[in-house]
Amino acid sequence: ASLEMYVDPLPQMPKILGYGFQQGRVVPVNLTIGMFQKNWKFHRDLPATPVFVYGQCADSATFPGPTIVARHDVPLSVTWENHLPDHHILPWDPTVPTAIPKSGSGVPTVVHLHGSAHPPQSDGSAFAWFTSNFRETGPAWTQATYRYPNVQPPGNLWYHDHALGLTRANLLAGLLGAYLIEKPEVDGPMDLPCDTDDLHLVVADRSFNSDGSLFMNATGNDPAAHPQWQPEYFGEAITVNGKAWPVLAVKRRRYRLRVLNASNARYFNISLSNGLLPFHVVGSDSSYLAAPVTVTSLLIAPAEIFDIVVDFASSPTAEIEMINSAPYPFPTGAAPGPRTGKVMKFVVTANGPRDAPDNSTVPDREVPYANVASPGPTSATRYIVMYEYLTPSGQSTHLYINGLRLEDPVTETPRSGTTELWHVINLTGDNHPLHIHLGMFQAVKMQQLVDLQVFMDCMTAVNDAVKCGVDRHAVGDVVPVPDHEKTWKNVVKIPPGFMTTVVVAFKLVDTNQPYPFDATAEPGYVYHCHILDHEDNAMIRPLKLLP
Ligand code: C2O
Ligand code: CU
Repeated sequence: ASLEMYVDPLPQMPKILGYGFQQGRVVPVNLTIGMFQKNWKFHRDLPATPVFVYGQCADSATFPGPTIVARHDVPLSVTWENHLPDHHILPWDPTVPTAIPKSGSGVPTVVHLHGSAHPPQSDGSAFAWFTSNFRETGPAWTQATYRYPNVQPPGNLWYHDHALGLTRANLLAGLLGAYLIEKPEVDGPMDLPCDTDDLHLVVADRSFNSDGSLFMNATGNDPAAHPQWQPEYFGEAITVNGKAWPVLAVKRRRYRLRVLNASNARYFNISLSNGLLPFHVVGSDSSYLAAPVTVTSLLIAPAEIFDIVVDFASSPTAEIEMINSAPYPFPTGAAPGPRTGKVMKFVVTANGPRDAPDNSTVPDREVPYANVASPGPTSATRYIVMYEYLTPSGQSTHLYINGLRLEDPVTETPRSGTTELWHVINLTGDNHPLHIHLGMFQAVKMQQLVDLQVFMDCMTAVNDAVKCGVDRHAVGDVVPVPDHEKTWKNVVKIPPGFMTTVVVAFKLVDTNQPYPFDATAEPGYVYHCHILDHEDNAMIRPLKLLP
C-alpha cells in the first residue's frame, strides 16, 4: 500500500550551537558528534527504518542530523566519532574505487563540511576515512578533530559523509545535516523572518521496503561491469526533514525557508500552488544575493541550497502544496509521477489578515559582495570536461572529469588567493551539479556547443578542448544565468551539450583577502559532480592549492 501523504508534521532538527558564551562574550567550543545506527520513523504507517545518523548521542541523533549553528569568525572544532556497526545497512560495490577495511568489518566514514573554507586536513578527504573507534583509517587520515574557522561570509552549508566509493550509500543511510554560519552584523539589518519563522527544509528522495528498511538496488544495470552500482539512485518517496510528504501548519506571515536538496541524484523543480505563491530568493548556497529575486519556481540540483522567504499572508488558498516538476534524470528523463511530483503541504492556520506582529521584511538590498558583474583579473583559465563511458550494451560504466580518475596526478593547481576561470564542458546527456571544495564560484556564461558530435569524436580521440577547436564549437545559443543564481555558490548546474564558464575564487569573497590558514597543505581538496552515484564512480578530481 502506498503511504498517505501529508500525515506527519514537518519536524525541525535539534540545533547545536557551534559557539559558547563566557562572561557575555562569544567563545569557541569543541563539539563531539557521533554517527550511530538507530531506527527512524519516516512515516506514521511505515515501520521504523534502520538508519545511520549524526547526533551528540544515539538517543538524540536524527535524520537529517542536528543543525549546527556557527558564528562568523568563531572557530569551531568538531570531533567526529564513528559508532557504526561492523556492516553496512546498504549494498555497495567493490568494482568502483572504495574504502574497504582490511579486517573486513567496519563502515568507513569521513565528514565534509560542504561550502566551507577550512584547512585541507579538515576537509574530509575521501581517503581520510575511519571506522568505528578509529580501528582502521584510510591513507590520508591525520586527525580525529576537524577545525572549521568560519571565516567566510554568512550563509547555508551542510555536512555529510565523503568516504571513498561509499558516499552514495552513507548519505542514503542518513549521514547528512545542515550547518549555518550566522553573522549578526550582516544578518540582523535585513530583518528576515527569524526564530520559529526560520525553518530548514532538507529534501531527500528515498525508497522503502515494506518492512520499513531503506531500499537501495543490490544489482547494477549491467552487473557484468558493476554488480551493484547504478548511474543514479531515485527514490519513490519524497522526504523533508526525515518525514515522507510532511505537512506544516503556518501562520499568515512571512517564513524564511532554507531549502537543501540532499538527494543522491534527484533534481527538484519546486513551486507553490502552481506558482501563485512566489519565492523571494535571498541567498543561494553559502552566500546572500546582492538583492532578493522573486521567482515562481526553483530548480534545485543535488547539494544545492536556496534561502527563500515565502509570505503565507498572500497565499491564495488555505492549503498549499509544494510541487516538484523536475524530470529524472534531469533534464531528459521521465516527468515525476503523482507522488514524486509532490514534496510537502503547508496549511495556513489562521484566516483573516496577517498574524500580527510580523516585523520581518523581504529586504530591497542585501550584501554588496554577492554579485560578480565581471570576473575581474583571473590568474588561470582551465577546461574541465565531463565524460560518460558506456558498456557495449549501452549502460554507463563510469563518468570521469577530463578523462582522469581521482587517483591520477593532480592537474588543477590554483594559487591560493587568486581567482580562476573554468570552462566546464558537459559531453554527457545529463545535467551535473559541479561542486568545488574550498572555492566559491558562479556561472558567468552558459553557451551551447554546435556540431557537438564532431567535437565529441575529437575529444574522445584527443581529450584536449583547445586542440579540438573548442572556440569553433562554443558558439551556440547563450542561456542567461538566472538572477537568483548570481552569487557565490558551492554548486553550479552544468547543462549537457554546453560550455559553462564559472569564476572560481580561491580566497574570501566578502573581503577579497587570502585565507587565514594554509590552504596548500596535504591532502589537498577535490572537486566533483554532486550526483553521488557519479562522484563515487568517479566524477571527482583532486584540487591542490599552490602558495
Ligand atoms: Cu557536498 Cu565533496 O561534497
Ligand atoms: Cu554527474
